[in-house]
Amino acid sequence: YKKITTKSLIDMKAQGEKISMLTAYDFTMAKIVDSAGIDVILVGDSASNVMAGHETTLPITLDQMIYHASSVVRGADRALVVVDLPFGSYQSDPKEALRSAIRIMKESGGHAVKLEGGKEIKESIKKILNAGIPVMGHLGLTPQSIYKFGTYTVRAKEEQEALKLIEDAKLLEKLGCFSLVLEKIPAKLAQQIAESISIPVIGIGAGSGVDGQVLVIHDMLGMNNEFSPRFLRRYMNLYEGMTSAISQYVDDVKSKDFPNEKEQY
Ligand code: KIV
Ligand code: NA
Repeated sequence: YKKITTKSLIDMKAQGEKISMLTAYDFTMAKIVDSAGIDVILVGDSASNVMAGHETTLPITLDQMIYHASSVVRGADRALVVVDLPFGSYQSDPKEALRSAIRIMKESGGHAVKLEGGKEIKESIKKILNAGIPVMGHLGLTPQSIYKFGTYTVRAKEEQEALKLIEDAKLLEKLGCFSLVLEKIPAKLAQQIAESISIPVIGIGAGSGVDGQVLVIHDMLGMNNEFSPRFLRRYMNLYEGMTSAISQYVDDVKSKDFPNEKEQY
């Protein structure tokens, strides 16, 4: 695949090729992630936590998401860029949802939007899809509803919630979403859903039986020491690496080691 499209992802699922997805929120990171060969870059509203230091994803605004997304789009060459619609930009009515999605597409140059929820936001998803904007769904642990859930623990362990999840996943497929994220649900349930629909299911904390995986880039690079859920695999310890580099720099400045003869004009 020279350039990843929503169609490529559907083809990957059909051919049994797993889909790789990571978040990015800025140009430099997007460029690195894209060159490393990622399929999908998600401009997640996790920017609210990771970039801005908020406790939840709720405070980030549509304007802020557009700023992050436009930066990412400039850094991405091959990957499909999916942008989260932030809390408050699509829940009140379908027209507002469409307006928000249009702003993201026009002002950031992103390729698709992602919305949290199933049946409740059915009309909004329809409207956005009717405008020709690809939609990725997001079910399971949906962080914009954290105050309803009360905790970030695994969702859909009870049968009733699991049944609603299956119904919602089928609905998203039927509406025409090109893919969907399942966050923090039992692996068995996630696999069952992935096997029962034809659009690719991307998991985070949803086990290996789905069609692709997504992680928050800062988490998988080990930039955040405080966040250690079971589903997170750390590929680096950038927190340690960066801290030691920075304290070395501080020492070098203090000791007048930096800059040396060759590092000046
Ligand atoms: O905002 C985000 O990073 C996400 C992923 C965790 C799926 O929605
Ligand atoms: Na998100």
